[in-house]
Amino acid sequence: MLTLKSCINIDDLGRLAAWKVPFPVNDYVEGGADDEVTLRRNREGFGDYQIVPQGLQDVSQISTHTRIMGCDSALPFYISATGFSGMMCPKEAELAGVRAAAKFAVPYTASTFSNRSLEEISQASAGDKLFQVYVLDDEKLAAELNQRARQAGFKGMVLTIDTIVGGNRERDARSGLTIPPKLTMKSVMQYMLRPWWLIGYLQSDGASMGNFPHMPKVSLKDSQAFVIAMSKLFKKDLTWSDAEDMIQKWGGPFAVKGIMSASDAVRACQAGASTIILSNHGGRQLDGVPSPIELVEEVRAAVGPDVEIIVDGGIRRGTDVFKALALGANSCSLGRAYVRGLSAGGQAGVEKALSILKAEFERCMILAGCSSIDQIGPEHIRRIR
Ligand code: FNR
Repeated sequence: MLTLKSCINIDDLGRLAAWKVPFPVNDYVEGGADDEVTLRRNREGFGDYQIVPQGLQDVSQISTHTRIMGCDSALPFYISATGFSGMMCPKEAELAGVRAAAKFAVPYTASTFSNRSLEEISQASAGDKLFQVYVLDDEKLAAELNQRARQAGFKGMVLTIDTIVGGNRERDARSGLTIPPKLTMKSVMQYMLRPWWLIGYLQSDGASMGNFPHMPKVSLKDSQAFVIAMSKLFKKDLTWSDAEDMIQKWGGPFAVKGIMSASDAVRACQAGASTIILSNHGGRQLDGVPSPIELVEEVRAAVGPDVEIIVDGGIRRGTDVFKALALGANSCSLGRAYVRGLSAGGQAGVEKALSILKAEFERCMILAGCSSIDQIGPEHIRRIR
């Protein structure tokens, strides 16, 4: 039987996660929009590139240190924003990820839709943290959240621009998942099959909306109803001039997440963003868009050498991170790779995910002949398709 100890790669963690959490929750994590073409492409895109090792370099000492959004990071990857962590790990929720990230000295991103509040997340570790914002229609509430993030010591802000409305996630429609999970006649059997999860969930405050104390403890029929309710919170007439305004008000490292073209990357830079996150939300939003890895070269050419580029989507192996860096990215962020660990074993599971990727990345660097991050370059990669 698979245990955390016996997991040797991120896919193993995915199999253990599927065993640990009720299947609607696992489908919520693993699923994508429509036909999941983009979800698959995010992985397949890496297969279009080969790593070209440079032989006989001195790799007796290697350093994986770099900077991510103004933070020192021991590795060129970090934890991306994922909402509702209490569904995957009712007991620890976001605290699992933020503590594990601090142990590995990599940044952690807290989602607007965290189950735990920004303040709780901040106090849980001394590590560097970023705050991911969805822009809310309620300006007062939005300003309040920004102020709270600043006071809680978050170092950078990440504006997600690809979620003006929720994606069409058919797995959730089929499973009847409610957010937060609710015990109904239909769901009770699904949840009873994972009693350890159910006990944790009933004992926890997994249904709370950490940053919106006035909001649900939702009582909504299904996940689509939830998405619609949440979508109503979002500002739908958001433009680049609003982004410019936010960037100025924040005044620190600021990323635009959800960039899928060179032209939008340039617009984000013109608006003052320090960082471009190439992302399609892990294939969960608009199906049929480009995958982040295949955009790196053209976006780097468009924005020049000094803008920070992060690849977000499909990272499951250390070699994926290496390929992204060789193509011109500065770092990568982890969605499902870390959530699988979270579902599989809370903080210990996230640590397992990070340790697997760390070991894989270090081995890749050595075998490719690189002793530091800045040595990874175009000579280490070729496109084959
Ligand atoms: C997400 N993602 C996400 N993004 C965001 O900006 N705010 C959020 O609240 C969430 N929530 C969320 C929940 C879950 C369960 C998943 C899987 C993803 C998207 C996430 O930050 C990231 O962009 C993708 O997950 C990257 O793709 P991979 O790494 O999962 O392939």
